[in-house]
Amino acid sequence: MRGSNLPGGLSLASRDFDLYISAAMDRERLLRELSEFLRIPSVSTLPVHNQDCRRAADWVATELRRLGCRNVDFLGSETHPVVWGEGPEVPGAPTLLIYGHYDVQPPDPLGEWTTPPFEPTVRDGRLYARGAADDKGQVFCLLKAIEGRGKPAVNFRFLIEGEEEFGSKVLFDLLKREPQRVAADAVLVADMSYVAPGWPAVYSTLRGLCYAEITVRTSKTDLHSGEYGGAAPNAHEELCRLLTQLKSEDGQINIPGFYGAVKRPAKAELAAWKKLPFKEKDFLEKRVQGKGLVGLKKYSVLERLWALPTFEIHGILGGFTGEGAKTVIPAEATAKVSMRLVPNQKLKTVERQLAAAIKRFTPKYVTASVRFLHGADPAQIKLTDSSFAKLDAAFKAVLGRGTVPARAGGSIPVVPALASAGAPVILTGIGLPDDRLHAPNEKLELKQLWDGIEVFGKFYELLGRNGSS
Ligand code: BES
Ligand code: MN
Ligand code: MN
Repeated sequence: MRGSNLPGGLSLASRDFDLYISAAMDRERLLRELSEFLRIPSVSTLPVHNQDCRRAADWVATELRRLGCRNVDFLGSETHPVVWGEGPEVPGAPTLLIYGHYDVQPPDPLGEWTTPPFEPTVRDGRLYARGAADDKGQVFCLLKAIEGRGKPAVNFRFLIEGEEEFGSKVLFDLLKREPQRVAADAVLVADMSYVAPGWPAVYSTLRGLCYAEITVRTSKTDLHSGEYGGAAPNAHEELCRLLTQLKSEDGQINIPGFYGAVKRPAKAELAAWKKLPFKEKDFLEKRVQGKGLVGLKKYSVLERLWALPTFEIHGILGGFTGEGAKTVIPAEATAKVSMRLVPNQKLKTVERQLAAAIKRFTPKYVTASVRFLHGADPAQIKLTDSSFAKLDAAFKAVLGRGTVPARAGGSIPVVPALASAGAPVILTGIGLPDDRLHAPNEKLELKQLWDGIEVFGKFYELLGRNGSS
């Protein structure tokens, strides 16, 4: 009996054994192909990687051609092009626009990676690499799900961009010039995660983002802290005071008008979140791995993460940070900050509110300025279109559990533009909450990858089954 020496003492009839072997070989090939994609360091926020971003775009274009796409094209940029493609025409079938991104975040701090970020490695059933979950691994699932399924009766359109992690300027400009690119019966975005292992989700909101650099200057040049200390202003001290005025210890953001547009979720939605497999204690101990949580204590942790805006300091530059000691009063200090925005808040309004607050909180002897680097409006999506039920059914068929509605704390800048032509935007994903996006040792579990290919394949099949959705 050929099947007798399978792992785990499995014994299979010979036809099943052949299927088992061909699936295993297929998985080996798929892993090899995904690893090729992950090996390209397509970091969009660092210009030294411009050519790598272009190579990742080439990888996507080659895959699209392999799937039989027509009009495969690079749009909007030489180095970070949006990759466009149109699947084989299926008359009468619904049009599905697939969005994803081939760029990744910088991998630093490099020393904290167990294996290097651009040398994809499998350990304990997990694939470790920058971009494994965000978003190359998920783009890979979306594409391979088409290959495996014969020919789904779906008119595929692809918009795979290379600047998502840097604010999506190329794609925004493209959609301004050519808004018809987003015309579709549905848009599928797989760039998020399950809410817990075994619990796939579909998201009704995404937070927006307002990213800014705040600079304060207190004198023409740095000054000797002995000669001047006690009477001359210190840029770092002024910056710290400004930042702690913008947000106080209890988590309250004190930018005048900032909360004006914020709406609390309905009671029913808040009640539904209580039934999700989310424990504040586990979140602290296993995910944050810190000693305590912060923020507005009268709201639940999920409400703070999903339905309230934030103010975060990402880094502070300037002054003396070198080896040894130097007694100096710094003349200038800069903070990189960002605010996450929730539905109803507007990026443009928040930019004005922040600029006004900085002006108001800055003493006369300090010059403060603010520069906005990039941003995104929040998104809100109704989960009523029939395509959501099909995604739910696809997950149910593969995992035995359908999608739970959730909200996302992260941002995908272009989602409001994808929704602008009226098509439902399906925000989902196959990652897990502990995939460590943007952090050292990002990973994707192989089970998530294989299930993901199955799920999207099933979804395409269901979408194509009864014509237009
Ligand atoms: N895939 C994420 C967004 C995300 C993360 C959504 C987690 C839901 C849960 C995306 O690649 C991302 O990181 N976006 C940036 C956008 C920014 C750089 C403009 C973000 O949210 O910081
Ligand atoms: Mn992403
Ligand atoms: Mn990201």
